[in-house]
Amino acid sequence: MAEEKRFKRTLVTTALPYANGPVHIGHLAGVYVPADIYARYLRLKGEEVLLVGGSDEHGVPVTIRARKEGCTVQDVVDRYHNLIKKSFEDFGISFDVYSRTTSETHSKLASGFFKKLNDEGKFIQMESEQYYDEEAKEFLTDRNIRGECPRCHAADAYGDQCEKCGSTLSPDELINPYNAVTGNKLVKRRTNHWYLPLDQYQEWLERWILEEHKEWRSNVYGQCKSWLDSGLKPRAVTRDLNWGIPVPVEGAEGKVLYVWFDAPIGYISNTKELLPDTWEKWWKDPETRMLHFIGKDNIVFHCIVFPTMLKAHGEYNLPDNVPSNEFLNLEGDKISTSRNWAVWLHEYLEQIPDKQDVLRYVLTANAPETKDNDFTWKDYQARNNNELVAIYGNFVNRAIVLTHKYFEGKVPARHELTDGDRATLAEFAEVKKQVESLLDVFRFRDAQKEAMNLARIGNKYLADNEPWKLAKSDMKRVETIMNISLQIAANLAIVFEPFLPFSSAKLRMMLNIDKVEWSMLGNMDLLEDGHATRTPELLFEKIEDSVIEAQMQRLENIRKANDIDNYKPKAVLPDVDFETFEKIDIRVGKVLDCQKVPKADKLLMFKIDDGMGGRTIVSGIAKYYNPEDLIGKEVCFIANFPPRKLKGVESQGMILSAMDADGALKVVTPSAEVKPGSSVC
Ligand code: 2FM
Ligand code: ZN
Repeated sequence: MAEEKRFKRTLVTTALPYANGPVHIGHLAGVYVPADIYARYLRLKGEEVLLVGGSDEHGVPVTIRARKEGCTVQDVVDRYHNLIKKSFEDFGISFDVYSRTTSETHSKLASGFFKKLNDEGKFIQMESEQYYDEEAKEFLTDRNIRGECPRCHAADAYGDQCEKCGSTLSPDELINPYNAVTGNKLVKRRTNHWYLPLDQYQEWLERWILEEHKEWRSNVYGQCKSWLDSGLKPRAVTRDLNWGIPVPVEGAEGKVLYVWFDAPIGYISNTKELLPDTWEKWWKDPETRMLHFIGKDNIVFHCIVFPTMLKAHGEYNLPDNVPSNEFLNLEGDKISTSRNWAVWLHEYLEQIPDKQDVLRYVLTANAPETKDNDFTWKDYQARNNNELVAIYGNFVNRAIVLTHKYFEGKVPARHELTDGDRATLAEFAEVKKQVESLLDVFRFRDAQKEAMNLARIGNKYLADNEPWKLAKSDMKRVETIMNISLQIAANLAIVFEPFLPFSSAKLRMMLNIDKVEWSMLGNMDLLEDGHATRTPELLFEKIEDSVIEAQMQRLENIRKANDIDNYKPKAVLPDVDFETFEKIDIRVGKVLDCQKVPKADKLLMFKIDDGMGGRTIVSGIAKYYNPEDLIGKEVCFIANFPPRKLKGVESQGMILSAMDADGALKVVTPSAEVKPGSSVC
């Protein structure tokens, strides 16, 4: 175990997300909320701390996205960098700097880092055979190679993994490999690359991790041990690719630094960008402590590869701890960007506005700290309604409302105490130590639970003492009860500050306290007698079933859309012959008018020219269209369903729509204009 060291400052880094898509709840739960809680906690304690983040804009994922979207890679990274940065701001992730790996500072620093190691002979160069596309004239990275899986024989496994059976693969194992983008067959060609000889650092790593960092989380320690036990091999740190930081060596044209070489150096570059004159003390002073917050798929890079790079470089500090989380699943399934199986942060805030703290709370309550965990919308609703609203919010609201009712909003004095009062006050004396002991070892889940227990104590104290019943007979007693309740509320504003910063700010506003410090926690004389509180507002609101149902429906649509990938024809219907099918009268109609149906979020009402005098059809696609945009379009509809009433409007048919991969519905239209009333056959 490493000796307990004293540090002057803490540098907290967060994994740089790839700028190839928006960020989702898995990112927030695994990395950014815990890192933010920790940074806020240290700041509240008055410690010197930096929270560093940024977007990872190199590597293959961004190039794949650009090809898919038919735009430049720069367009992709610009768009997603801005979207990701905004999502983090919206969720209160208190970065001191959030930059990007396409910045000039970064490219210079990463280049210089590589050059130093190369000049000092710290790399080895080796030739190897790699897959090459002769027509596109490019070497292929593992992700860009597809072929038949040697294990389950799925037709389109990747060069590094088969998504169907989950096997880890190498491109050499694929049967009939081809370029995933061009579809061309591949040949093998020799190419030269720079390698970091991890094997030469094996002994040092074993000592540094396995002996000196036994305190690391068991999932992190265990993964490192298993890598070390199987023996480290040299790792290529360059790639044949046209997107990235050019290898700064003569004769290395067409080669760039491997994304996993440059990305972690981004932590250094971003610190330098923020503090051009003083950045070095954050990276070179042994009295600075460095922590990497990451997800479990990044462990080997942050515990083995990056530390080896830092060691080889020789001037930088090594990480003191790498509090890595496991994965968060969504409704029982692995979160997947490509399958759209995620709750995207920007969409969440559009659909459930101003509920940042609710999501922060639920993600911490379910944080995958020691094992994979599941996010479900039902649990989200229950934690909001039964914990945030019913315990924390309810207590604070009652405390402030009653203070306004009986004392014009001013904090009353405390008088003679009962045993119950003394017991409640005593519970708070230990709070600071208890929560600290959990936060100091990155047990955010338990620390937040402890904070919620304090709200529970407050709620119970009010319920047991029932000041509203004493108001007529014993006002002095009411004064004492309300004083204690308000001191509890002020303590809650402090203890929840790292976890729920938006709500704490609101509570501080209502209690009329400006600045709080961690050292004030446990102090039951925070509010002086006569201190004026402000008008009470609800701290949390109940989340209705309809909100949760809409989210579940969204996921259900996505599940259905994903099923297209595993498309299996529906069972043959023995009784449906062509004549039966022909009885369904499908026609083309022109939309003459389209409007929202009042008091029905989902419904649009169409007036259709059906070539037969016109008809009205109601369709549940209001979420996917502006009604005006459909006017003048031709749509296909079933003309001979019996009429039925929807929200008071009689619908004379059914409009046909196709479901897109994201679950959105798109009306089916003929490829060229036809006469209204034409039948679809
Ligand atoms: O896994 C990922 O999303 C990587 N972009 C993380 C990089 S972390 C660091 F090295 F920058
Ligand atoms: Zn397979």
